[in-house]
Amino acid sequence: MRFKYQTPTGIHDLCGEDQKYLDFLYTKAKEILEFYGFEKIELPILEREELFKRSVGEATDIVEKEMYTLTTLGGEKLVLRPEATASIVRAYIQHGMHTLPQPVKIWTFGPMYRYERPQHGRYRQFYQLDFEILGSDSPSADTQVIFLTFTILKELKLKNLKILINSIGDSCCRPYYKKQLKTFFRPYLESLCKDCQRRFEKNPLRILDCKNQACREIIDLAPQSVDNLCQDCKTHFKRVLEILDNLDLPYLLDPYLVRGLDYYTKTVFEIVISKENLSLGGGGRYDKLVKLLGGPDTPAVGVALGAERIITELKEEKIKVKGMPDPKVFVAKVGDLAQAKALLLLEELRKAKVPVRESLGKDSLRAQLDLANKLKVKWVVILGQKEVIKDRAILRDMKKGTQKEVKISDLVGILKKLALN
Ligand code: HAM
Repeated sequence: MRFKYQTPTGIHDLCGEDQKYLDFLYTKAKEILEFYGFEKIELPILEREELFKRSVGEATDIVEKEMYTLTTLGGEKLVLRPEATASIVRAYIQHGMHTLPQPVKIWTFGPMYRYERPQHGRYRQFYQLDFEILGSDSPSADTQVIFLTFTILKELKLKNLKILINSIGDSCCRPYYKKQLKTFFRPYLESLCKDCQRRFEKNPLRILDCKNQACREIIDLAPQSVDNLCQDCKTHFKRVLEILDNLDLPYLLDPYLVRGLDYYTKTVFEIVISKENLSLGGGGRYDKLVKLLGGPDTPAVGVALGAERIITELKEEKIKVKGMPDPKVFVAKVGDLAQAKALLLLEELRKAKVPVRESLGKDSLRAQLDLANKLKVKWVVILGQKEVIKDRAILRDMKKGTQKEVKISDLVGILKKLALN
């Protein structure tokens, strides 16, 4: 019988092996990012709808059709955050972080929500690892973000990674490029999908992001942003590519990469797995966003990595992760008097870093030994009613089936030696 209460469509539990992989990603990322001076921020899951409309852009898929919007009892329009960058910029302004020494480096990790059509690698709730550098316009900031993204994925032992990169210009050269795109797409309007016909009016750059096959064939002939950059954007992009060359990173110029969010200027990039071009992460520079949201003029660049896609790839590449060490010792107890003794012993073993399991219930000694067998522990400590009074316990070697009496006060020392061998 199918259990009635399943998770909603496109939303999953992350348990068992998935949880170990999630921890693996989190721990590695934390270690690397904190070394490089990124500070963690915990952001709210609910934000004002206006924040994403203004930053991600009204003509993007995210804002047009994918936001989980709710109206509070007080009539406020809130959304479950679809991404973290807008919230980080909001926090940067709200907490006056522009007064701190610049650049400010921030990272966060948590669930995002997009009402998408669920398919392979595309969910309605997914975890993102996001990190941003605010307050630097240097190409070194772009390349540090790309380099660290690559380093995190490499430290997870992922192979076949490829960086796709492009520059989409800024407010100086982009209006001219948009005009060129309109001139190019106008004769093809009838052949473009309905979404692209709308994008043509609202923001022709968005057409380049369309996945429809018929549209893609037309897009492949369109003018490229890199041929239309102003001097400042051209110099910036050239420098970014030179640094990437010197870092020996495997990048590829993708002239139609524009990314699905409106806030980008200059550099945009994605990290993909070569064989299926599935994007594990993407980001870019967004020099106008802080100002657009009411803060001081502050250039910035950042990236977000999708945890579920990384987990899928780690599994596919059969990469092993260490979980909790297997228990070596089992603490069994008989009688009420032994109960507190067992809890105290567990705590001493925790401090001595001896992996241990126990039975919490009032099971018979046989049932407890059966459980210890299933857990494949090597030693069982039996705390019996009579022995505990005499500060004694029984130590059983599960493999040999032998046992001896030992002083409880000596147990931790003995078990530490046995467990470390
Ligand atoms: P994004 O490309 O929308 O960028 O998302 C980044 C990553 O999140 C994707 O490459 C993918 O791995 C994962 N992702 C996105 N949507 C889904 C989904 N429906 N299911 C599973 N995984 C998904 C951003 O979100 C920007 N905020 C990145 C950024 C940071 N730009 C500058 N700073």
